[in-house]
This record gives sequence, structure tokens and C-alpha cells, in this order.
Amino acid sequence: TGHIDDVQELRKAKPTLVPERFVRDATERPTPCAVLDHDSYEVPIIDFSKLMKVDEDEGSWRAEILKLKRACQDWGFFQVVNHGIDLSLVEGIEEVAKEFFMLPLEEKQRYPMVAGTVQGYGQAFVFSEDQKLDWCNMFALGVEPQFIRNPKLWPKNPPKFSGTVDDYSREVRKLCQNLLNSIAITLGLKEGTFNEMFGVGVQAIRMNYYPPCSRPDLVLGLSPHSDGSALTVLQQGKGSSVGLQILKDTKWVSVQPVPNALVINIGDTLEVLTNGKYKSVEHRALTHKEKDRLSIVTFYAPSYEVEIGPLPEMVDEINHPCTYRRYNHGEYSKHYVTSKLQGKKTLDFAK
Ligand code: SIN
Ligand code: FE2
Repeated sequence: TGHIDDVQELRKAKPTLVPERFVRDATERPTPCAVLDHDSYEVPIIDFSKLMKVDEDEGSWRAEILKLKRACQDWGFFQVVNHGIDLSLVEGIEEVAKEFFMLPLEEKQRYPMVAGTVQGYGQAFVFSEDQKLDWCNMFALGVEPQFIRNPKLWPKNPPKFSGTVDDYSREVRKLCQNLLNSIAITLGLKEGTFNEMFGVGVQAIRMNYYPPCSRPDLVLGLSPHSDGSALTVLQQGKGSSVGLQILKDTKWVSVQPVPNALVINIGDTLEVLTNGKYKSVEHRALTHKEKDRLSIVTFYAPSYEVEIGPLPEMVDEINHPCTYRRYNHGEYSKHYVTSKLQGKKTLDFAK
């Protein structure tokens, strides 16, 4: 394979060519209606500073918690503004990510994606020759705890890469933990329920780069999937094209980038823990004819040894019978990274 499947190289060599391996079956293609039909639907926007009672206003805290509850229940996705992460870090991570993707292919291939893991540069979730490919280059790293790191995969170039990933990840981790506290409150649980249960937690980062594609109507930037995490934090690159879509009431809805906002979504693990009260929502990415797009995604999940299953508070035999089994998060994580992206199919593991 090598550079034939690398979409940046493809685009450089033959700007109008879309090889067969990227051409989706008619049922999977983004329909024009899905691309345009986003006006009536807008992903909720949550003011994080209100959740943190920065202005010490009990009333606005209560109102924001209610908004968060609705967002988790009705959307599984929301955007957070006033998230408190320094603009220099938000801009910094974007800069090093872009610089990395712009390196010559040979240099990026010094950090090859290892089959059956999602770490390194390349095509993740590809397991067979007849599987369609996404119009996307990925670079992914395990961040925490230390033992999941593969130091050989941390780029020396750009020089600021590793330090920026570390600094950014530390801040995003705090954001995740704070959001998990607020989410616990929306469920009537003790604030610390998730964080105490998750332990140190597992954190990974994935950078997705989508070059322009001459036929955005035929390809997908990223196949439909739900995330295996508890929570995911997604940063859409400045000046990027609109690309992220979520499946809302059977319709694909675009998530409009809001300046300096981060997109948060519920992963499979929270779906199981809440016994399906908060669901992980299927999403995908589209490409654009002229514009490229960058997204930086952080996955936050429980430590591998943590046993996952519906929390007792989320189960009652009459109205909310238990609909998921128990397993260790490590088992699910392994299942997830060795399965292709296919809607919510990975969650069958928990049924
Ligand atoms: C993802 O789901 O991992 C990324 C989607 C995006 O690029 O917006
Ligand atoms: Fe995702």
C-alpha cells in the first residue's frame, strides 16, 4: 500500500483522481440534502464557566445544568464555550498538528500505525482489502497513563509537538473530569461518581487531516461510528471546512464550527454506565471540494481494569431494565480498536 492510499499524496499527484477504494456504495454516500439540511438543527452550546459557577450565580448554574442534561439526553453532542483552556494551547496544538501533516510522507512514515492498535500515522480501522477507505490521514497517540505511550511514535518534528500535546492533554483532561462531574449531577448521582470510578483514566489523542477531495459527493472523510470513550473532546481547526455530521432523528446534521468552542460527545462507555439514558451518537466526517480540514480529538475513558456496566442507580426492573452486560473497559477498548468503524456496531459487544 504505502503512498497509494495516502490521501495527501494522492491529492498532490492527481488532484482529480478518486480511486475506486474510496468510492462509497450509493447508500453510504453523503446525499446533497444531508449536506445542506442543517438550518433547523443546531447542536446545543454549553457555557462551561456557568457549570463551574465562575460568577457564583446559583440560578445560572442550575439553568446550565438543565441545558447540559437536555444536550446529553437529546443530542449526545454539545459544544462548550468558555472552557478555560488557554487560547495559546488551542492554537498551539492546531499548529503542531498541521505542521506534522505537512511533513514529507517519508518522515511521517517513521511513525507507522501498528495494525490492531490506533497509534501512529496511517489508516486506522482497516482490516480487509475490500473495505472502503476514508478520505483522511490520521495520527494518533496514547497519552495517559504513561504505560500506554509508545515513545518511538512521538515525533521529534515539529520540535514543539510533544510538549504541546502534553500541555494540551493535561488541560483537556481537567475539562473532561469537570464535565463528568457536571454530567453526574444531571443524572442525580454524586458529583464524583464517574471520576472516582474511572481511576487514573485512559486518554488518547487523534489528529485527523482531510485534504480537499474533487468528489466530496462520492467519499467519506470518516466512516460513521460512535466513540468507545466515556467522553470525547473535539477541536475543529480554524478555517477548516464544515465536516462533522451527527445522526439526529435519522438525519445527518452538520456541526457548525463555533469560534473557540470545543465539541463534546458522549461515548459508548457512558451509554453503558447510564443504562442507555445518555446515548453515544453516530457521527461521520465529510470532505470539501476546495478546503482542507483538521480535527484534533481527545478520548477520555476509564482505566482498563475498571468494570463497566449500568450503574445500579440507572436500573429499575420495571421501567429501566438492565440492557447491557458487565465487562472491563480494557476488553472493550481492545474490541473497539480491532473492529472497523461501522455505526454503533461496536457496542453490540456490551449487549
Ligand atoms: C472523529 O469522530 O474522530 C472525528 C470527526 C471529525 O473530524 O470531526
Ligand atoms: Fe468519533
